[in-house]
Amino acid sequence: MTTAELKLPAASTATLSTSTTMKALVYHGPGKYAWEDKPRPTIQDPGDAIVRITTSTICGTDLHILKGDLPSVTDGRILGHEGIGVIEQVGTGVSEFHVGDKVIISCVTACLKCDFCRRGMYSHCRHGGWILGNTLDGTQAESVRIPHADGSLYSLPSGADEEGMVMLSDILPTGFECGVLNGQVKPGDTVAIVGAGPVGLAVLLTAQFYSPAAIFMIDLDDKRLAVAKKFGATTLINSTDGHAAHHVMELTEGAGVDVAIEAVGLPATFDICQAMVAAGGRIANVGVHGKPVELHMEKLWDHNISLTTRLVDTVTTPMLLKVVRSGKLQPSKLVTHRFAMNDIIKAYDTFANAAKHGALKVVLTNGAPRE
Ligand SMILES: NC(=O)c1ccc[n+]([C@@H]2O[C@H](COP(=O)([O-])OP(=O)(O)OC[C@H]3O[C@@H](n4cnc5c(N)ncnc54)[C@H](O)[C@@H]3O)[C@@H](O)[C@H]2O)c1
Ligand SMILES: [Zn+2]
Ligand SMILES: [Zn+2]
Repeated sequence: MTTAELKLPAASTATLSTSTTMKALVYHGPGKYAWEDKPRPTIQDPGDAIVRITTSTICGTDLHILKGDLPSVTDGRILGHEGIGVIEQVGTGVSEFHVGDKVIISCVTACLKCDFCRRGMYSHCRHGGWILGNTLDGTQAESVRIPHADGSLYSLPSGADEEGMVMLSDILPTGFECGVLNGQVKPGDTVAIVGAGPVGLAVLLTAQFYSPAAIFMIDLDDKRLAVAKKFGATTLINSTDGHAAHHVMELTEGAGVDVAIEAVGLPATFDICQAMVAAGGRIANVGVHGKPVELHMEKLWDHNISLTTRLVDTVTTPMLLKVVRSGKLQPSKLVTHRFAMNDIIKAYDTFANAAKHGALKVVLTNGAPRE
């Protein structure tokens, strides 16, 4: 199905809660997606909440899904794992949230009871984990069913800016946990981040909690690099010439960087990290990979490096929420484009062709987008 074949409906708020169907962005296999009718979600388990989405957005992972990188996502799935909304219904087992509450939806669902949850690894919750927009219908819709609502939702502070707060669903905890915490960024470190997309920029923003001495930002897109400069990057490297690691080695007088953070998800960008990590350094992988990468043990075996991978756990969301509320972190600055949810096909085109459109985060709202 192509975009041209789609008939986009006018936004309808009058039918929102009464109709048994709703509009949603549905995946139909690699490269195919459509804005179409789906049944409105209903409570299935006592821990469920039904949330009417007010704000959502698109993630680089959604682009990986559309490339076919994630076989767990099958034909017919509603995409999206980021969002803010209003609770419309709760199951009998939900104790912390009520109808009418405004909530931030975490991209990771947590039962809070299983062995993985009890050691803070919500990403591997036996009854949840990253299921939204993956193995369960997601947030790029009018409404979504959130299982284990007590562990998977956060109250939206009153008066908070939804555009900034929606970055707490995924990119802020992802950048911080998978990049900064796993990379063990310390005061005085030299850090290089490959990928200046929203996730790489979230790494850049949260790495500065720890006062690294230098932050190199590497990307192909000069517009995104210019944003990185505004957000605190000390050196910008456009890797179009294929020599990013070489430039980093020159800039560090042959030493390399203490922390190399991969925020793209390609063999080429993982290679840059391997080629520029200093002895004793850390490679923290954040990107979702659809293809194998080559691990250069012939070069790294004697380098005393650590390599980490992580699916975001979202255990730092409560802390990050406080920092965003204080104004010390202003993720709304990542928003470049706004669309009504029923213009989501256009929003995908804008985000997928980010360099052409100068796009970072594209915000989707049910109802009219704000100017
Ligand atoms: N581990 C997790 O839990 C988790 C969670 C969320 C997102 N992710 C992943 O993080 C990654 C980044 O997400 P995003 O939303 O910022 O995506 P994005 O697609 O907006 O950004 C990727 C950036 O990489 C740059 N890039 C592409 N090829 C490059 C190259 N050869 N050299 C340098 N830069 C290059 C692009 O120009 C772009 O700016 C994705 O792989 C996404 O799936 C992982
Ligand atoms: Zn994501
Ligand atoms: Zn669990």
